[in-house]
Amino acid sequence: MKWLSLSLALAAPAQAALRFGCSTVSIQRLDPLVEPGKIPSAHLHQIVGGNGFNATMDPNDGDLAEKATCTTCTFSEDFSNYWTAVMFFRHQNGTYKRVPIVQNDALPQGINGGMTIYYTQQDFFSNGNQRITAFPKGFRMTVGNPTATSRWGQGLKFVCLQNRSTRFPELDDFPTQRCPAGIMTVHHFPACWDGKNLDSPDHQSHMYNTVNGAFVNAGPCPASHPVRMPQVAYETLWDTTQFNNMWPSDGSQPFLLSYDDRRGYGTHADYVFGWEGDSLQRAMDSNCMFNACENGRPLRSQGVAQMNACRVRSSVQEDIDGWLPRLPGM
Ligand SMILES: *[C@@H]1O[C@H](CO)[C@@H](O)[C@H](O)[C@H]1NC(C)=O
Ligand SMILES: *[C@@H]1O[C@H](CO)[C@@H](O)[C@H](O)[C@H]1NC(C)=O
Ligand SMILES: *[C@@H]1O[C@H](CO)[C@@H](O)[C@H](O)[C@H]1NC(C)=O
Repeated sequence: MKWLSLSLALAAPAQAALRFGCSTVSIQRLDPLVEPGKIPSAHLHQIVGGNGFNATMDPNDGDLAEKATCTTCTFSEDFSNYWTAVMFFRHQNGTYKRVPIVQNDALPQGINGGMTIYYTQQDFFSNGNQRITAFPKGFRMTVGNPTATSRWGQGLKFVCLQNRSTRFPELDDFPTQRCPAGIMTVHHFPACWDGKNLDSPDHQSHMYNTVNGAFVNAGPCPASHPVRMPQVAYETLWDTTQFNNMWPSDGSQPFLLSYDDRRGYGTHADYVFGWEGDSLQRAMDSNCMFNACENGRPLRSQGVAQMNACRVRSSVQEDIDGWLPRLPGM
């Protein structure tokens, strides 16, 4: 009996997973983690989450959840910011057009662009009998590297969509053929923390990656990074279909990421934690999955109209929507 109660105390039974939509809060050239304070930053980003997003986001400015007054995410206690590079189409005539974002099939209808955000545990369905520790206030990280010229990480993928529910196969770089329902980019962040640093100079070394593709966990956290955090992942669906009749005559694939990456090996994403109070920890300690976590069980949530109404005004005045002679900032 003694042994049993001890093992129960150590092994948390919770098997929660969050999957939710966040509509677009802004599309602009800001990069508060990598180029804090720089207006404009080097390349264009697609941003979702709270309206506390701005060019600096200094961790000493205080709690993001207190600065923000609204969020584009389903969970109204989540003022975090999530962002990634924007996809462009390059026309044979030399101009570039931004590829619009469409919502995931699994989410409520009407979400304006945006991204699908996951916080899973050890893998999609289990916490592996270990406690999942929510990120502390001020935590931030990035995954991927825009200067990478070869395959970078297990969790950074492209999917050629046959329909908006296609999830396989996961590719390491851009699909080379026309995709009937668009292209999905997937970013899985590392989930093992050093337990000390809210950030690091490269925004990555305070974390350790045990992630494989497709939400499959590859192993335990190492002694250097012993704390198991939620496995954060983004899915972004790009509607490339409207360009499928404009491919260049030599058949080369015409899509690229906003820092002029035609292979996609530099695909990357950024995360700044901003959940209110202990809400994320409460969710990780519960047993809810996906939309069963809404309506106060245990997380407060909001409807699509409220999500879409939250916005951050752009601090960079430039055309990002026309047929552009060059990529913004390039
Ligand atoms: C970002 O927001 C913080 C506090 O909300 C503010 O102190 C800072 O000046 C803002 N930075 C920019 C560049 O707007
Ligand atoms: C390039 O092609 C697009 C799509 O047909 C067109 O709208 C745009 O005006 C063209 N630009 C130039 C410079 O030819
Ligand atoms: C979507 O495409 C996948 C293959 O990628 C297929 O297995 C699935 O049945 C399709 N779903 C629908 C609703 O067409």
